[in-house]
Amino acid sequence: MRLPLFLALWIARQFSTISANDFSSFLSANASLAVVVDHDYMHKRGQNIIAHFEKILSDTIRENMKNGGINVRYFTWNAVRLKKDFLAAITVTDCENTWNFYKSTQETSVLLIAITDSDCPRLPINRALMIPMVDHGDEFPQIILDAKVQQILKWKTAVVFLDQSILDSNSMLVKSIVHESTTNHIAPISLILYKIDDSLRGQKKRSALRQALAQFAPFKHELQHQQFLVLSQFYEEIIEIAESLNMFHVNNQWMFFVLEELQRDFDANTITINLDEGANIAFALNATSPDCMDTLNCTITEISMAFVTSISRMILEEQSIYGEISDEEWESIRSTKQEKQDEILTYMKDYLKNNSRCASCAKWSVETAVTWGKSQENRKFRSAPTRDAKNRNFEFVKIGYWSPLLGFVCQELMFPHIEHHFRNITMDIVTVHNPPWQILTKDSRGVIVEHKGIVMEILKELSRALNFTYYLHEVKEDEFDYNLSSNESEELVGSMTFRIPYKVVELMQGNRFFLAAVAATVDELQNKPFNYTQPISVQKYSFITRQPDEVSRIYLFTAPFTLETWGCLMGIILVTAPVLYVINRLLPLHELKISGLSTMKNCFWYVYGALLQQGGMYLPKADSGRLVVGFWWIVVIVLVTTYCGNLVAFLTFPKFQPGVDFLGQLSHHKEISQYGLRNGTFFEKYTQSTTRKDFMDYMERAVIYSNGNAEDIAAVKSGRRVNIDWRINLQLIVQQHFEHDKECKFALGKEDFVDEQIALIVPSDSAYLNLINHHIDRLFRMGFIERWHQTNLPSMDKCSGRSLMRQITNHKVNLEDMQGCFLVLIFGFSTAVFVACIEFWYFRLYVQSNQRKRSVFAN
Ligand SMILES: *[C@@H]1O[C@H](CO)[C@@H](O)[C@H](O)[C@H]1NC(C)=O
Ligand SMILES: *[C@@H]1O[C@H](CO)[C@@H](O)[C@H](O)[C@H]1NC(C)=O
Ligand SMILES: *[C@@H]1O[C@H](CO)[C@@H](O)[C@H](O)[C@H]1NC(C)=O
Ligand SMILES: *[C@@H]1O[C@H](CO)[C@@H](O)[C@H](O)[C@H]1NC(C)=O
Ligand SMILES: *[C@@H]1O[C@H](CO)[C@@H](O)[C@H](O)[C@H]1NC(C)=O
Ligand SMILES: *[C@@H]1O[C@H](CO)[C@@H](O)[C@H](O)[C@H]1NC(C)=O
Ligand SMILES: *[C@@H]1O[C@H](CO)[C@@H](O)[C@H](O)[C@H]1NC(C)=O
Ligand SMILES: *[C@@H]1O[C@H](CO)[C@@H](O)[C@H](O)[C@H]1NC(C)=O
Ligand SMILES: *[C@@H]1O[C@H](CO)[C@@H](O)[C@H](O)[C@H]1NC(C)=O
Repeated sequence: MRLPLFLALWIARQFSTISANDFSSFLSANASLAVVVDHDYMHKRGQNIIAHFEKILSDTIRENMKNGGINVRYFTWNAVRLKKDFLAAITVTDCENTWNFYKSTQETSVLLIAITDSDCPRLPINRALMIPMVDHGDEFPQIILDAKVQQILKWKTAVVFLDQSILDSNSMLVKSIVHESTTNHIAPISLILYKIDDSLRGQKKRSALRQALAQFAPFKHELQHQQFLVLSQFYEEIIEIAESLNMFHVNNQWMFFVLEELQRDFDANTITINLDEGANIAFALNATSPDCMDTLNCTITEISMAFVTSISRMILEEQSIYGEISDEEWESIRSTKQEKQDEILTYMKDYLKNNSRCASCAKWSVETAVTWGKSQENRKFRSAPTRDAKNRNFEFVKIGYWSPLLGFVCQELMFPHIEHHFRNITMDIVTVHNPPWQILTKDSRGVIVEHKGIVMEILKELSRALNFTYYLHEVKEDEFDYNLSSNESEELVGSMTFRIPYKVVELMQGNRFFLAAVAATVDELQNKPFNYTQPISVQKYSFITRQPDEVSRIYLFTAPFTLETWGCLMGIILVTAPVLYVINRLLPLHELKISGLSTMKNCFWYVYGALLQQGGMYLPKADSGRLVVGFWWIVVIVLVTTYCGNLVAFLTFPKFQPGVDFLGQLSHHKEISQYGLRNGTFFEKYTQSTTRKDFMDYMERAVIYSNGNAEDIAAVKSGRRVNIDWRINLQLIVQQHFEHDKECKFALGKEDFVDEQIALIVPSDSAYLNLINHHIDRLFRMGFIERWHQTNLPSMDKCSGRSLMRQITNHKVNLEDMQGCFLVLIFGFSTAVFVACIEFWYFRLYVQSNQRKRSVFAN
C-alpha cells in the first residue's frame, strides 16, 4: 500500500532536486553544531560566557538526547568560516558581526541562531532565528525595526508623537524609525517628529497637543493619507483632540503604544467611544509579565533546549520512517539539508512559542479596530438601539503579539481596512428601477436576478475595488411620488433623475444603508438630508422640432452661380458679340472678311452658340478675329466647367429651408405655436432663477407634459410644436421613430443648455464618501464611465447623417471666382484690337501702296 506513495515521492524528488542529496541523515551521522561566542563582544559586556555555554549545552544534550547525538564545536573568533558539513550555528555577537556572519553562512548554507544586541535589524525570518537581548523597558526601537523589516507597517511617511521622557530613555528610537536598508528591503520613511513635553499639565498640555495635531487636520474635506505613531502617556487626550479635528477618517492610520503599567486598566472600546466608523486605529499593549527575569544564561538555556528538542524530534521521525521502508526508498526520500534546516527552524519556533520564559520577557500584544461597515453588520442583530458604554461601530480584535525572540507574530494585518477595505462584508444598497441608469431584471417571484445600467456598473466596480458584496433593496416608485400614467403605451420614453423617490430619501436619512445606487440630479447641496457623491454624468437639455423641408428644386439649375455672375455672363455675351462684329467689319481686306459674321445678329448667335459649345461653323480668317474667338473659348471652357461641377454639388447635397438651431430663433418661427416641457425636469427648476430671456419666454408659454398623450409628438412632427427634454431622451424618440417609420422627420437643436449633474447618494456625513469619490474618480480616469455611457445611452447614428448634411452649405460661384476669366476676355479683346490695328497699318502701308504701284505700272 505504501509503495506507490513512495514511488511518487521518489519521482517528485528526482525531478525537483537534480543534485544528489549529499547531506547525511541523522541516523548515520550526528548533527553538527557550531557555537561562536565573540570574545571581544563578551569582553565588552564583561561576561565570560563561553564556559557557561559549554556547560549548559552539554547538560541539555545529555539530558534530552535519547537517540543519536550532536557534535558541538566552539569558536571564540567571529570571523571563522564554517564548512558545509555544519548543520547549524549559534552565535553570540554584536549586530554588525551577526549580519556578516549571516552572509557567510548563506554561502555554506548553515542555519544561524543568533543572540545579539538589541536594535538590530532582524535576520530574514524564514532563514534564521535572531534573539536581540532587549533590556527591560527598552524595546521600542526593536519593535519599530521589526515592524519595518516584517512589513507590519508599510508606511512611507509617519508623524510620530513622542513623549520627551521616552525619547530621553530610548536614544536609538529615532534612528530605528528612520532606518533603511537595501539588503533587508526596508524602504526609507520620511518622518515628522513631535516631542511632547510630558511635564505639562492640564489646559496647557491640551493646547500644546491641539496645536501639534491641528497641522495635520484635514482641510476642507481633502482627506490625505497620513500615518501616525503615538508613543505617549497622553494617548487618551490625543484621541480626543484628534477626534474633534476630524483626524480619524478612512485614509489615516493611527498606531498607539499604550504605556500603562497594568494592561487590564486599558479598554480600547471605552477610549474610542466617540470615534466614528471608518477609523483605522491599532493599539499595542504592554503584555510583559512583571516577574520575568531576563538573563543571558537563561536565554542560552532556552535556545539550547529548543535546538536539542527539535533535533531529537526529527531523529525520532526519521527513525519511524526508516523502519518501514527499504534503503533505496529511504535514500530517495530523506530530507536535504535545506529541508532539515527549515524543519528545525519551525520546530524551534514552535517550542519557543510555548515554552519561552525569559528569552522574550518583553511582550506587546497588538489589537486593531475592525470598523468599516460595522454599523451595517450591527443593524442585522439589533432592532432597537442599545445604550451601553461601548461603541457599536468598533470591534477590537487581537491580531498577534511582538516579542524579541520571534518578532511580530500576527494572524492579521495591522490595519486590515487599508488593504482589504470592507473585508468582503455584505452591504445594503437602496436602488430604484430607472433605465438606463439602473436596470433591474426580476424573475416571476419579484427577486432581482440581474442588474445593469450605468450606475449599477459603477456599483459593481466599487464593490470589487472596495471588497464588499451587496444586497439590493428595491424601492418601488409609488403613485404619489411619480404621478406617471399607468398605461404602458402612454409612458414617456427616456428617463429623469431630478425627482428622487421619497422612500429613498427616507431610507438614506436613517443612515442604515451604505449607498443609494440611484442616479440623482445634484441640486441644493446644503439642504439635503444626504450627501451626493462626485457626479458620474452630466446631461444637457435640447429641443426637438420638425426637420426643415428641402428647398424646391425648380430653380436648381440657376443655383451654381450667384445673380451677379449670371448678370456678368449676360454682359460679356452682349459685349463680345459687338466686338466680334466690329473687328470683322473693320478688316481692310475683303477676302478676309467672313460673311457669316457680317451682321450683329449673326455675331450674337455665334458667341452664344460658342458658349454652349455648339458654334464654330465659321472661323475668322484674320488674326484679330481669331484672337477674339480664341479668348472667348477660353472663357467658355472656364464657365462651363465651373457651372457643371457646381451643379453636381447642388444635386448631391440638397438645400434645406432654415430650421431652428438655437432656442433664441424660436420667435422667428410663427408656425411653431406650442411649446412643451417634460414634467419633473431640472430645467424647470433652473429657469425659476435664470436671467436668460429665451428661457423665460419659453417657460411662459410652455405646457408641462407628463404622459405620451400630452407630449404630442405628432404635433412636433407636423411642425407645430417644440419640446424640451434631455438630449438623450430626445435622441431616443428620434431613434424609435426611425425604427418605426424608417424616416427622419425630427431635428434636435444645435444648442445644449443647462448642464445637469448626476451623482449617487450616500447617507449624510458618511465616512466613506471620500473613498467612494476617489474610486469614481479612478473609474473616470480609466475611461470606464465614458464607456458605460456609450453602451447604455442612445446614440444618433440612425438619423444623424441627414441632419449633418443640412449643415453643409454649397459654395455659389460669385464674381470673385470669375474675375480672372473676365480679365482673360478683356486681355483677348485688347490684343485683338491691337492686332487689328497692325493689320490695318500693314494694309495701308504695303498692300495699298503696292496696289497703287501696280496701278501706276498698269497705267
Ligand atoms: C555522536 O554523538 C554521541 C553522543 O553525543 C557520541 O557518543 C558519538 O561518538 C558521536 N558519533 C560521532 C560519529 O561523532
Ligand atoms: C511593560 O510592563 C512591564 C511589567 O509591567 C514593565 O516593567 C515595563 O516597564 C513596561 N514597559 C514599558 C515600556 O512601559
Ligand atoms: C550562568 O550559569 C552558570 C552555570 O550554569 C553560572 O555559573 C553563572 O553564575 C551564571 N551567570 C549568571 C550571570 O547568572
Ligand atoms: C504548543 O502548545 C500547543 C497548545 O497550547 C500545542 O498544541 C502544541 O503541540 C505545543 N507545541 C510544542 C512544540 O510543544
Ligand atoms: C477582501 O477581504 C477578505 C476578508 O478580509 C480578504 O481575505 C480578501 O483578501 C480581500 N480581497 C481583496 C481583493 O482585498
Ligand atoms: C466574499 O463573500 C462572498 C459571499 O459572502 C463569498 O462568496 C466570497 O467567496 C467571499 N470572497 C472572499 C475573497 O472571501
Ligand atoms: C395623479 O394623477 C391622477 C390622474 O391620473 C390625478 O387624479 C391625481 O391628482 C394626480 N396626483 C398628483 C399628486 O398629481
Ligand atoms: C392605454 O392607452 C391606449 C391608447 O391610448 C388605450 O387604447 C388603452 O385602453 C389604455 N389602457 C388603459 C389600461 O388605460
Ligand atoms: C453633506 O451634507 C451636509 C448637509 O447636507 C453638508 O453640510 C456637508 O458639507 C456635506 N458633506 C460633503 C462632504 O459634501
